[in-house]
Amino acid sequence: MVDVKNIVVIGVGLMGNGIAQVALMAKYNVTIVDVKQEFIDKGIASIEGGLKRLEAKGKLVTADVMSGLKTSLDLASAVKDADYIVEAVVEKMDVKKNIFKTCDENAPPHCVIASNTSTMSITEMATATNRADKCIGMHFFNPVPLMRLVEVIAGEKSSEESMEIGIKVSESLPCLRGDRYIAKVLKDKPGFIVNRLNAPVSIYSNYLLDTCLEKGIPFESLDADYESKGPMSPLVLADYVGIDTSYHGQNYYAETLSEEFSPGKVITNMYKEGKLGRKTGQGFYDWSKGRPQPDFSKISKAGLVDLDIRLAIRLNEGCRILEEGIASGWKIIDDANMAGMNAAGPFERGIENYENYVKKLGAIAEKIGSTYLKPCELFRSGKFVDMK
Ligand code: 3HC
Repeated sequence: MVDVKNIVVIGVGLMGNGIAQVALMAKYNVTIVDVKQEFIDKGIASIEGGLKRLEAKGKLVTADVMSGLKTSLDLASAVKDADYIVEAVVEKMDVKKNIFKTCDENAPPHCVIASNTSTMSITEMATATNRADKCIGMHFFNPVPLMRLVEVIAGEKSSEESMEIGIKVSESLPCLRGDRYIAKVLKDKPGFIVNRLNAPVSIYSNYLLDTCLEKGIPFESLDADYESKGPMSPLVLADYVGIDTSYHGQNYYAETLSEEFSPGKVITNMYKEGKLGRKTGQGFYDWSKGRPQPDFSKISKAGLVDLDIRLAIRLNEGCRILEEGIASGWKIIDDANMAGMNAAGPFERGIENYENYVKKLGAIAEKIGSTYLKPCELFRSGKFVDMK
């Protein structure tokens, strides 16, 4: 198996700089590549910022770690000595395919090309290359240094060896919250495991957000409806991940899974107005002074959210993941959700009363006219219970 020493990270946005930071901490030689010097400079500042936090705790010396970093504005020359490439650019298939093509034409034959896509087909990206066996998915969760999960995804032609290299590299990247959890994704289907599990909640959320818009209810009142906010309330999390990421993701699911995933009015307007959340300083909340800390005790509730429905939607989608053979059992789905989002997966909580959730889901699907949300065969039958 290839001994990976040189890693190239393409795109130094939120995800790319997190990936570069942990790769540097693992002592790889890392080259970051982007299209403008200002993006590179911003990326370097974020990486240094992360390392300095650790230096302040006596865990490393920033200058030593940074000595493993190179930068480039020219992809073709940057990958000349690469053993392993991770692309983390915008979620647009044509852009990713162009990058895969350039990497294939210029990187050494042994080099594995991985995509950090949140949703998109690795198999399709690999068609832009003459090394489909060496193309895989390597999907991180934001913030990369703190979230334990990496999903390593097999495209239709990925070799076992490339998957093993992807898993080995993932395991070697430090995480500040414990050991990395690597979920092997067995089928290259939109959204893989964790994003797919949570994706159809957007059909319900878009319905709720657009209802708020129609009725003039402030969006934070929707957030106030959630009794248990988890590590971040849903709209703070949406801002944190980026409204553009949700927008592109929902459009991709609309093309590949069901039209019902199309972004609603609220998300579309925010995307068009550039209110992308944390990265632009304004989304559902104001981020100009750092992470918003809404005081929900002082915000009136919208009274629209039914938490059981969110759980039922996720249980149903988890069953589809099992039906489609994307993961081998529900425990992996729950564990991956915990490692990627610091939030409990649906099965452990929902399995006991699953018949209730089947009924609730059927009723909401009827109410909002959704075919996609109707309970699938595996969920209705309860046969998933034994697929641990
Ligand atoms: N380098 C070094 N240290 C860092 C760091 C970095 N880059 N970032 C944070 N830290 C340190 C901080 O200094 C802090 O140290 P301390 O405990 O000694 O003070 C510690 O890590 C914790 O940092 P924060 O105080 O910022 O973290 P919080 O405790 O507030 O938790 C959170 C933040 C982990 C983001 C938490 O709110 C959370 O789990 N939220 C959910 C996030 C989530 O769901 N992510 C997944 C999104 S979906 C996704 O990414 C998929 C994609 O496809 C879209």
